Amino acid sequence: MIKVVAINGSPRMDKGNTAMIVAPFIQGMTDAGSDVELFYTRRLKVKPCTCSEMFCWYSEPGECCIKDDMQLLYPKLREADILVLATPVYIPLPGDMQIIINRLCPLIEPFLETRKGRTRARFHDNVKIRKIVLVSTGGWWEKGNFGTVVRIVEELAEDASVEFAGAVLRPHAFLMKKEEELTKDGKAVVSAVRRAGYELIKEGGMNRETLETVSHPLISEEELRHRYNKALEK
Ligand SMILES: Cc1cc2nc3c(=O)[nH]c(=O)nc-3n(C[C@H](O)[C@H](O)[C@H](O)COP(=O)(O)O)c2cc1C
Repeated sequence: MIKVVAINGSPRMDKGNTAMIVAPFIQGMTDAGSDVELFYTRRLKVKPCTCSEMFCWYSEPGECCIKDDMQLLYPKLREADILVLATPVYIPLPGDMQIIINRLCPLIEPFLETRKGRTRARFHDNVKIRKIVLVSTGGWWEKGNFGTVVRIVEELAEDASVEFAGAVLRPHAFLMKKEEELTKDGKAVVSAVRRAGYELIKEGGMNRETLETVSHPLISEEELRHRYNKALEK
């Protein structure tokens, strides 16, 4: 059975817009037969990496010297086939999510090589992760707004020599709901997200059309700008 660890970095946890996308994504992966475990960065007590001498690389390879909740997460991550990083865009990431990404360092073996002019490493042999996926929501209109977040997760995958298996991106995600209820468009997005999760497990990757359906505009750019600016006038 394919094991998935999903980490949601939204400070609003299960009440947030990111959770609106993460829940159906997990449902789709579960429908396809995978075993998914979800963590919220906000519930985990994880300190920033303070180990500039790279203890986890050279003093005790694979071991983190900071004894906090990452010690619960490391074994789960080693056993996972797929890592899903879920986050709102926060120019670019919420701090807790960045801290967790930094703390993935002990999973990486410092066997360095140069690929396409870049220094890269790889996961230790005892880390099963073969794919990393991004799930993200933002408030602005355009998909380009996710560029930095996508690049961060792509970099992580390239550094660890595993596949970046794609990004499920939902711009102006808050418009999926009106008065706490999913709109018709919101329901269509949820259904496409669920399909993306299913495809990831069953087909080994998410179809481009499915991801485009997840991201498609729910409103014109002018109208969204107008709404934001009008709210400011009140
Ligand atoms: C500190 C902060 C920074 C943000 N920066 C951006 C941004 O750069 N681009 C964007 O599209 N949305 C930005 N947003 C909006 C959130 O990404 C968006 O509302 C997201 O869906 C919130 O997800 P959540 O409810 O799970 O936290 C920002 C929100 C906050 C609080």
